[in-house]
This record gives sequence, structure tokens and C-alpha cells, in this order.
Amino acid sequence: MSGYLTAINRLRIVKVREVKRESPTVKTFTFHDKFCAKAEPGQFVMVWIPGVDEVPMSLSTMRSDGRCSIIVGEVGEATKALHQRKLGETLGIRGPYGNSFTLENGNVMIVGGGTGLAPLIPLAEKLAGLSKGISFVLGAKTQDELLFLRRIKTVLSKVDGRVIATTEDGSYGLKGVATDPAREILEKGTFDMIYTCGPEQMMYKMLVLAERYRTPLQASLERLMRCAIGLCGSCVIGKFMVCKDGPVFSDEQLREVKDEFGRFKMGRTGKKVSV
Ligand SMILES: Cc1cc2nc3c(=O)[nH]c(=O)nc-3n(C[C@H](O)[C@H](O)[C@H](O)COP(=O)(O)OP(=O)(O)OC[C@H]3O[C@@H](n4cnc5c(N)ncnc54)[C@H](O)[C@@H]3O)c2cc1C
Ligand code: FES
Repeated sequence: MSGYLTAINRLRIVKVREVKRESPTVKTFTFHDKFCAKAEPGQFVMVWIPGVDEVPMSLSTMRSDGRCSIIVGEVGEATKALHQRKLGETLGIRGPYGNSFTLENGNVMIVGGGTGLAPLIPLAEKLAGLSKGISFVLGAKTQDELLFLRRIKTVLSKVDGRVIATTEDGSYGLKGVATDPAREILEKGTFDMIYTCGPEQMMYKMLVLAERYRTPLQASLERLMRCAIGLCGSCVIGKFMVCKDGPVFSDEQLREVKDEFGRFKMGRTGKKVSV
């Protein structure tokens, strides 16, 4: 194993430098780590909460001075314990793991929802210096859960960009789901790439739209993960391991696993459960 792999696989204990509440169920945690600081958009870390679990989290900030952050949605035991972590307390991390989004310099669309925005924000920051145009569509159930609108608007103010926000209850932006305006925009324009991350049903709908409008797509998938290095098989989807072959997959790869993508994932007991 190379020195780099040995180093990133080693558990590092990092201090929580900042905790920010983003919504009733989501918090951002900032820490310093020289390896994560060099990660690419789409890569993730395994976060160890002693005595509870170790869970995968996308990196949402990677700065050259070492500052990094993760955005954590409280959904179960591990994320609840993570939400209890306070400024100055510690976390265990290893990684960064997985592949990253491939950058496209043409006209691109980014579609995200919930904590799925985590890898899409650093992606938009990178694309801002590269792409001809960026249409960013983000969706949430309610205004309270609509995350990072200001940060996304700031990033896109530097390019030919537009932000379209949707809420299911109509409390902010367009009423409905993110895939509705995405479909309308695809109908009117030509795009060189669609990037998506969020609920799998949303990403599945984006794959269908990508096929209809003959646009390439990259989606970042979530699966149960234990080892994160391709050994345990927890994260399997068809012929792929999400931790090693992903988490970012192309439209072509997703078509190869269409029996599972948008339908099933492996649960904790090893049985398939609906996504
Ligand atoms: C590559 C990768 C990157 C990820 N990045 C992030 C991230 O940036 N931010 C983040 O908050 N999460 C992210 N996740 C998901 C995160 O790892 C899980 O939410 C976490 O492992 C749940 O652990 P838990 O013990 O709290 O909940 P569990 O006890 O594992 O789950 C509790 C319940 O919540 C459901 N559940 C699990 N995950 C989710 C989810 N994501 N959304 C809604 N319901 C869910 C389960 O089906 C179960 O019913 C990522 C996952 C992967 C694979
Ligand atoms: S998490 Fe173990 S193989 Fe992917």
C-alpha cells in the first residue's frame, strides 16, 4: 500500500472548530485536516463517533489552509450522536475516499436536494471558474429545510448562473419538486452535463430526463458503508461498490444497475430494502 493510502486510511482525531445549525435537522461541522483539504468534490470521509458507529459524509468545504466541513442531517443513531458534538470536542475521521465529479467546461445543470447539496457546493465552486453557464436547481420540503441558498447564490454570482429553488409546500420559490423546473429548463436549452445528488428517487427522475434530452449525467449515490475501501460489500449496487467505484456514477453506469438504482439498497441485515 502506498504511503498516501496508508495515511488516509489511518484514523485521525480532529477537533470540531465550528458548529453551525443550518435547519432544524441539519448542522455543519468544521475541522482541520490536511488530507481532506486536498479532496475533490464528490469525495467523502468516514466519521467515527466512539461507541456509536462510523458513517460516510461528503466533504462540503475543502480549503487550502486545511479547513474542511461536513453537513450532517439527523436521521438515526449515529447522526443524532454527531449532532451532540460541540465546539472543541473531537471526531474520528478517515479518508478522503471514493471518486469525484468530472468537471465539464460547457453549460451545466446541478440538481440537488437536502444534504445531497453537500458535494454539489464545492463542485459549483470549482465549476464557477470553468463552465460557460450553471443552472442550479435545489429542492426541499419546506423553506426551513432549503439549505445553502445564499452560499450557492454567492458562488453563481461569479459566473453566468441562475438558481431555482423549489419547496414542496410552496413556502419559498416554486411550489413542487426540483425535477419540475429541471425538466422545463432541459426542454428549452442544451446542456453538456447534469450533476445530481439527493434523494435517490429524485436522481432516478433526473436520469430519465437526461435520457430524454440526450444529456450526460453524473450522480453521487448513498449506500450503507462499513469499510469504505471495497472489502465488506455493504455498499454494493449491481456490479459496483459505491465506496470504491463511486460514489459518483455516470448515466451509462447507472443504466447498468437499473434493476437497483432508484429501487433498492442493501439494509443493515443484508436484505434489500426500498430506497
Ligand atoms: C458517500 C456518502 C456520502 C454521504 N454524505 C452525507 C452528507 O454529506 N450528509 C449527510 O447528512 N448524510 C450523508 N450520507 C448519508 C449518511 O451516511 C447517513 O445518513 C448515515 O449513515 C445515517 O446513519 P444513522 O446511524 O444516523 O442512521 P441509520 O440508523 O443508519 O438510519 C436511520 C433511518 O434513516 C434512514 N436514512 C439513512 N440515511 C438517510 C438519509 N441520508 N436520508 C434520509 N434517511 C436516511 C434509514 O433508512 C433509517 O430508516 C452519505 C452517505 C454516503 C454513502
Ligand atoms: S463499504 Fe465496504 S465494500 Fe464499500
